[in-house]
Amino acid sequence: MTTRKPIRKAVFPVAGLGTRFLPATKAIPKEMLPVIDRPLIQYAVDEAREAGIEQLIFVTGRGKTAIVEHFDIAYELEATMNERGKDMGVLDPTRATPGDIITVRQQVPLGLGHAIWCARAIVGEEPFAIFLPDELMIARKDGGTGCMRQMVDAYQRLGGNLVSVLEVPHDEVSSYGVIDPGAGDGAITEIRGLVEKPRLDEAPSNKIISGRYILQPEVMRVLEAQEQGAGGEIQLTDAMARMIGTQPFHAVTFDGRRFDCGSKTGFVEATLALALEREDMGAEVRRIAQRLLAQ
Ligand code: UTP
Repeated sequence: MTTRKPIRKAVFPVAGLGTRFLPATKAIPKEMLPVIDRPLIQYAVDEAREAGIEQLIFVTGRGKTAIVEHFDIAYELEATMNERGKDMGVLDPTRATPGDIITVRQQVPLGLGHAIWCARAIVGEEPFAIFLPDELMIARKDGGTGCMRQMVDAYQRLGGNLVSVLEVPHDEVSSYGVIDPGAGDGAITEIRGLVEKPRLDEAPSNKIISGRYILQPEVMRVLEAQEQGAGGEIQLTDAMARMIGTQPFHAVTFDGRRFDCGSKTGFVEATLALALEREDMGAEVRRIAQRLLAQ
């Protein structure tokens, strides 16, 4: 088997304005909104670590410093909790190893593709992962692995570039990046083309890209020369589409659950679904939900 360069770095583009969540996101980054008691960004970072990723690159903007603070040591909080004999386990998972988080700034939110390009100097000449933290990917309850872990496993077999996909009802495809699928083999589908926010009658399938990518560093060169695409933004999908034919491109259908926490209803769904599963509150939340539904 060919030895592939390992995926050691992940880019988290978190410089978007989060306009769908205003006014909540006026002073607080969307990625810090909690699903129960963990901010969205922490779910994504935990998923990256599970996949063996060592270096986390946050592409941030103004007003986003809380994201970096979240992964720092909170001395006052720790001292107080220690004094009170409180369980420190609730804080520990957020702690980063010194130097494993790097931030770069995207001064103007010109689009996802531009945000990724802002990380080019840190990514260098290695294949790398991308996480959109508002897509919440949850492993199967019965001990399944996370989405990026599944993608890294596929990458070790296939190499090249990979995106995670899922199927949505056909009339929803216009909000997403959509793949033109080729041959399929289990969870893996060859990608023949990609289009961002297609018109319904032009959508090549109902398989949408769902916020996780493994890309070769050449994408940075393509993004360098990238023109504006759908919505006047520099689109990552357009840059990836140009690489098809020059490099292998596959889609991985995640064996697990995905919640679109970039939308308000998706966020509510994620909160409810995860709360119902929690040992410390599931039964109570179920009673509350039943009572509300009966009204
Ligand atoms: P979204 O379009 O979902 O996020 O971008 P948004 O722009 O923050 O939210 P709305 O649509 O206004 O509510 C997908 C991801 O790309 C990042 C966002 O932070 C999000 O994680 N992004 C988007 C950037 O980092 N820079 C950009 O210029 C655009």
